[in-house]
Amino acid sequence: MVSTPLKTTKSEEIFSAAQKIMPGGVSSPVRAFKSVGGQPIVFDRVKGAYVWDVDGNQYIDYVGTWGPAICGHAHPEVIAALHEALEKGTSFGAPCALENVLAEMVIDAVPSIEMVRFVNSGTEACMSVLRLMRAFTGREKIIKFEGCYHGHADMFLVKAGSGVATLGLPDSPGVPKNVTVNTLNAPYNDLEAVKKLFSENPGQIAGIILEAVVGNSGFIPPDAGFLEGLRMLTEENGALLVFDEVMTGFRIAYGGAQEKFGVTPDLTTLGKIIGGGLPVGAYGGRQDIMAMVAPAGPMYQAGTLSGNPLAMTAGIKTLELLQKPGTYEYLDQITKKLSNGLLEIAKETGHAACGGQISAMFGFFFTEGPVHNYDHAKKSDLAKFGRFHRGMLERGIYLAPSQFEAGFTSFVHTEEDIDQTLAAAREVLSGL
Ligand SMILES: Cc1ncc(COP(=O)(O)O)c(C=O)c1O
Repeated sequence: MVSTPLKTTKSEEIFSAAQKIMPGGVSSPVRAFKSVGGQPIVFDRVKGAYVWDVDGNQYIDYVGTWGPAICGHAHPEVIAALHEALEKGTSFGAPCALENVLAEMVIDAVPSIEMVRFVNSGTEACMSVLRLMRAFTGREKIIKFEGCYHGHADMFLVKAGSGVATLGLPDSPGVPKNVTVNTLNAPYNDLEAVKKLFSENPGQIAGIILEAVVGNSGFIPPDAGFLEGLRMLTEENGALLVFDEVMTGFRIAYGGAQEKFGVTPDLTTLGKIIGGGLPVGAYGGRQDIMAMVAPAGPMYQAGTLSGNPLAMTAGIKTLELLQKPGTYEYLDQITKKLSNGLLEIAKETGHAACGGQISAMFGFFFTEGPVHNYDHAKKSDLAKFGRFHRGMLERGIYLAPSQFEAGFTSFVHTEEDIDQTLAAAREVLSGL
C-alpha cells in the first residue's frame, strides 16, 4: 500500500466556495474536519462499504453517513423500494399505511416500545421525548450524562459530547440559562452521582436520559450494573428512564441496547437506521405515557413531513434486510476483527490506546485508558488522532473526523476491507 498525497483539487474548490455561502462550509459542524485539521473531502457518490470523492478517490467508509448505512450505502433493495414509492409521491401529510408497517416493526423489535410517534430527526425525537417526560411526571428537572449527545435542542446543550467538544464549546451561546437550569449532569457510569442528584432534588426529577452505550464521546460501554442501577433509581424516585437509541437502535442488536443489556426503559428515542438513509426519528414507549401525545392526549408535538412515505419505505426495507439470520453475528465478527486489530497494531507500534466494540459500533482512544466517561476520553492525544486520521485518509480509509465519535461498520464490509484497513493502520501507526 502506498501513501500518496491525496489529489483533492476539486474538493478544495467546492469547499472554499461553500465557506462563502454556508457557515463553515457545511450543513452540520463535525463534517468540517475542525478537530483533525486539513480540509474535508467533498463526496460525489456512495455505494456499499465505499465512498467516492469529487476528485475520484475511493475510500472504505466507517462513518456510514453517521450511522444509518448499516446495510451499506444505497443498498439495491432499498433503492428499488424507494423508486417504487417515489412514483406514488414524496409526502402525503395524511395517514399512510407504511407508517403502520414501520411502527409494527419497531414495536416488535424494541422491548420498551408499545406505541411510537415518527418525527424527522434524532434531535426532534429527543426534544419531544423530553417534553413528554415532563408532561407525564409533572416535573421539570432531568438528568443527563456528561459527553452524551441528544441532538441540538437548547436544554440538551450542556456538556453535550462530540460536535460541541470538537469545537471546544463548553455550551453554546444563544442557549438561555433558564432553559438549561433544569438539566442536571452526572458523569457517565457514576451511579453515586445520580443518587446524589436524586437526593438533592427530591420529587423534582422527571427522568434520566442517556445513550445506553455512548457514541458521542467516542465509544464508551456501560459498566456492569450501571443500566440496572439507573432502572432501580428511577423506579425508586418515581422518575422515567429514557434510552436515546438514535445511534444504538438496530445497530448493537436488532432490539438496540435495551435488548443487548436486558434493561427496559420507559421511553426510547430512535433515528438513523430506522430511516434507512432518509431523514427520520421516532420516540416511543409505554402505552400509558404515549397516550399523553397529541391528538390522543394534551402534549403537543407535530411535523409536516413526519411519517412521509419515502422515509418509511427506506426504514421498512432496511429493517427487513437486518432480519436476515446471521446479520448481527457477521457484524460482530468483522467489527471485532477491526477493533482488536487496531488495538494490537497500536500496541506493537508503541502507542498508548484503548477501545472496543459491540456489534457494528466501535471506537478507540489514543490513551492508555480505561475510558469509562467523558473526562477519561478527554485524556486522549488529539493531535495524534488528527495525524492518524489524515494518514488513513491518504490510504483510502474514511474514519469519523473526531476522536470523540464512534465508528460504524455495515454488513457489506468484507474481511478484505478490514484487512486493508488494518494494513493501512499499521503503516500509519508505524510512522507516527
Ligand atoms: C445519540 C444521539 N441522539 C440524538 C442525535 C441527534 O440526531 P440528529 O442528528 O438526527 O438530529 C444523535 C446524532 O448523532 C445521536 O447520536
